[in-house]
Amino acid sequence: MDGYRPSTYGEGFADVYDDWYGDVSDADATVERVAALAAAAGSDRVLELGGGSGRLAVPLAARGFVTWTVDASFAMVRRLRGKPGGERVHAVVGDMAALPLSARARFGVVLCAFNTLFNLTTIEAQRRCLAAAADRIVPEGGRLVVESFVASSHDDPNAAVGAVEPRHIGLDEVVLTVSRLDPANHTITGQHVQITEAGIRLRPWMLRYLSPDELDALAAEAGLRLAERHAGWRSEPFTADSPVHVSTYALMPRG
Ligand SMILES: C[S@@+](CC[C@H](N)C(=O)[O-])C[C@H]1O[C@@H](n2cnc3c(N)ncnc32)[C@H](O)[C@@H]1O
Repeated sequence: MDGYRPSTYGEGFADVYDDWYGDVSDADATVERVAALAAAAGSDRVLELGGGSGRLAVPLAARGFVTWTVDASFAMVRRLRGKPGGERVHAVVGDMAALPLSARARFGVVLCAFNTLFNLTTIEAQRRCLAAAADRIVPEGGRLVVESFVASSHDDPNAAVGAVEPRHIGLDEVVLTVSRLDPANHTITGQHVQITEAGIRLRPWMLRYLSPDELDALAAEAGLRLAERHAGWRSEPFTADSPVHVSTYALMPRG
């Protein structure tokens, strides 16, 4: 999508994000799991990549963690800061593929939840993000946790699939999801088209998906090894049919 930038998603969705996605995953279970991983790492510091409006970062900070987030969208960060407890989150506006943080900052857990790694629309940006995350976890016991839908690595590269689906049909509003899958490039490009009597609002989005195996391979390039993979935040067993995975990575031994 021409002109699509790291900030495009957040700027387009910030005003509806909490209404549309506020309960998209189990925030309480996420906080519990992150708390257990941070405790095992002996750290009270957590970094959320693309923390958005603070759906997870705010409860993590409320739980007592020194919580940082790097998000590309001013509008998202403004939402986070406007929430009760949002002032406790150290929110930086920037690109998670570059992680503009102090060189000395280290975290017990770096969290990349709810498909956010796929918001990086090129493999190079995903590679840089994983390398930057690996640099930020504490060497002894630190973990990177990635949550995403399970994408297939066996798509027919010649199939380009377009779809228009109703997302919401209300008395005074229709939201259509218009999308195109490009299997050769592992991208899905879309718009949420919100139609009301006042007019039409376009909310563009773009994902570059990775299968779990592809993610493991990219993580390995960054010096990270898969430590655990579950089908959710409550350590549900991961199977061939799991629609979602929560994957935990540790640093490979150096040298
Ligand atoms: C799907 S939302 C998820 C927000 C939050 N992690 C959650 O689970 O509710 C993705 C977030 O990633 C941010 N984002 C997208 N590309 C980014 C980038 N290159 N660097 C930093 N943040 C980015 C967006 O602004 C948005 O807030």
